[in-house]
Amino acid sequence: MSLVNRDLVTVDDLSYGEMEAVFSLADEMSDSMAEQLNTCHGKVMACLFFEPSTRTRLSFEAAMHRLGGSVISVSDARASSVAKGESLADTARIVGSYADIIVIRHPWEGAARVVADYADVPVINAGDGGHQHPTQTLCDLYTLKKERKNIHGLKIALWGDLKYGRTIHSLIFALAKFGADMLFCPSPGLEVPDNIIRKLVAEYGGQVERVTTPERTTSGVPFPLDAVYMTPSSPHQLAMMPDVNIAVRLGKGVDALYVTRPQKERFVTTEEEQGLEGKYPVVDKQLLKGKRFERALVMHPLPRVDELAYDVDADPRSMYFKQAARGVPIRMALIALLLGARESPATVEEDVSAPTPEYPVYQRDYGARCPNPACVSTKESEAKYLKSEFRIVSREPLTLRCVYCEHGFQPEYIASSDWHEGRLDAKRYHRADSYWAKKIRPENLIVFGSVGDAEANGFKPGRHEGKKKARK
Ligand code: NCD
Repeated sequence: MSLVNRDLVTVDDLSYGEMEAVFSLADEMSDSMAEQLNTCHGKVMACLFFEPSTRTRLSFEAAMHRLGGSVISVSDARASSVAKGESLADTARIVGSYADIIVIRHPWEGAARVVADYADVPVINAGDGGHQHPTQTLCDLYTLKKERKNIHGLKIALWGDLKYGRTIHSLIFALAKFGADMLFCPSPGLEVPDNIIRKLVAEYGGQVERVTTPERTTSGVPFPLDAVYMTPSSPHQLAMMPDVNIAVRLGKGVDALYVTRPQKERFVTTEEEQGLEGKYPVVDKQLLKGKRFERALVMHPLPRVDELAYDVDADPRSMYFKQAARGVPIRMALIALLLGARESPATVEEDVSAPTPEYPVYQRDYGARCPNPACVSTKESEAKYLKSEFRIVSREPLTLRCVYCEHGFQPEYIASSDWHEGRLDAKRYHRADSYWAKKIRPENLIVFGSVGDAEANGFKPGRHEGKKKARK
């Protein structure tokens, strides 16, 4: 499918074949940099960076300059009308009328989705809070491909802050799309969120198995392995003797170690910060002596703090500076494809992974709001016009996923618009795990964040609900 005028908000927006097309064009462009100056001549890219950035912003800007286009940018929210309380929707409409393409980085999860919904031009997410960072993932996959030819069947250890690292979240889904196995190696308390594990298994298949026995590497350094993901195509069946299989597969070593820094700016509790002291796993020369890392590429989206020692820089396995450098041809290819300045090179057949399921969508301007405080839909300037919008990803237990930040949650109270239509005394709410909940058709579903929320909207406890139970 053509990429012209499309948005890139999450890695789900690109199929396997489309990512391969970006890589193939990036190869071509890096071999002929000087010949690209007319590719996007006359086009304008707007860079809206409301969070700090070095690599992402500068490589996007360098990419557009190398394509012969020009760049307008905001790199400090305090210097734009956002500081006066302007909404993202208005910002998107305005900037979309000045530029041909928008790149946005924002601390709120789902911010890029809102900009994409309101701007008439293609929008690229350059990082939205702890949610996703799909173009970093393109650089990561491109590096794996360049160094190892084939991503399918690789074993990648994801290291450090797996809870708040947006590069990790995008990479998890992309690696699953390419058929790689993953080892989750978090700092204690910074494990992959359940939301992400649930989506991974439900939509990409495969299995996640928790690892309970603490591991040590052959060099004696602890290996913080918490869980393993194996793709459906993996020859090993985890369900059968998981520990034995994990040990066998680990014995063969990992292909890449993807290290991340603690994303302290997103920590919610002081315990998260305190829990790190002396516990955050460090990758250094000593760790890499372990047999398991013999042929492991050392990757990092950068910036690094203390988790990746400088003594690794000269090691030929270190890839992080190459990863950053490859950001320019990757972003050149992406911009050219979204602007229709280049056609998609024909690459491989379409997706190897299962297509994303079509979940029913829930949308209401009252009732439950997304419970994620970092979600764009909960912010004062945005809540005025954004309705609560969720995908109903499971009925048992009833589970909703916010369309903006993708946070999943299980509401406690529900009602049906069908049962009370026209009759006020029939406005009853029920517990979401009750018999009634299963009978409600998706289009009639109303979800409440609490009893107070249900009652403020004029609903009374259901007749079949123990009143005490419902009020708990
Ligand atoms: C990452 C980011 O901003 O999420 N940096 C980047 O874009 N290369 C990683 C980080 O900040 O730790």
